[in-house]
Amino acid sequence: MKIIIVDSYEEMSIKAASIVQRQLNIKPDCVLGCATGHTPLGMYKELIKAYRRKEVDFEQTVFFNLDEYCNIDPKNKQSYHYYMNHNFFAHVNAKRDNIFILNGMAKDFDQEIKMYDQQIKAKGGIDLQILGIGENGHIGFNEPGESFETGTHIVQLQESTINSNSKYFPSKEDVPTAALTMGTKSIIQARMLLLLANGPEKASVVYETVKGKVTPQVPASIIQLHPNAVLVIEKSAAAFI
Ligand code: F6R
Repeated sequence: MKIIIVDSYEEMSIKAASIVQRQLNIKPDCVLGCATGHTPLGMYKELIKAYRRKEVDFEQTVFFNLDEYCNIDPKNKQSYHYYMNHNFFAHVNAKRDNIFILNGMAKDFDQEIKMYDQQIKAKGGIDLQILGIGENGHIGFNEPGESFETGTHIVQLQESTINSNSKYFPSKEDVPTAALTMGTKSIIQARMLLLLANGPEKASVVYETVKGKVTPQVPASIIQLHPNAVLVIEKSAAAFI
């Protein structure tokens, strides 16, 4: 595991974008696993800037998003469909047919999750998976205590995740209680992982992830076992390592 500690959120974003960019320049038809949340926003902005400078091209890139809330319309501003379109896809030349995001409005969730794993496999697996980390150690929506052996599945969100994500919703009651997520097993099968973290509220969990025991109680700790994981951590989130 390679750990890069940087001075600011801006530096984290620039470094992360340069890693993604390098990967895309080596392999333009790269399969990129995308995360949402506050953490990667700056990285997406940097990638958009690089695209405008013609330093990177997304025409052949295939995108798989980590997760989506259940029962939330893709047009809803809190949906991860909206987030990705609004913050990234609408600003670059990503092809619609190459964008895969779990459908939180699917009539049959079992079929949806099965299909997602098949689609990832059909595209040759994820080359580079971008990850944020929850204060409780979740990656995607894989909550503490869940098996490391899961593919894409449905999760009931834990109270701590609902509380933490309520800042994005009008009230806590509006936060969906369930989500579809790529599983820990699917994530760890990516050929490269890029985990970003910023802010002092992530310092404890970053410590647990990097120096603690590998345990389903801290889902992100699994990355210790990955042969090609890069962590770009802003200094306040790296305070304990
Ligand atoms: C989002 C995701 C989550 C977030 C995590 C951190 O697609 O998979 O695991 O990465 O909740 O969120 P932020 O970046 O908002 O602190």
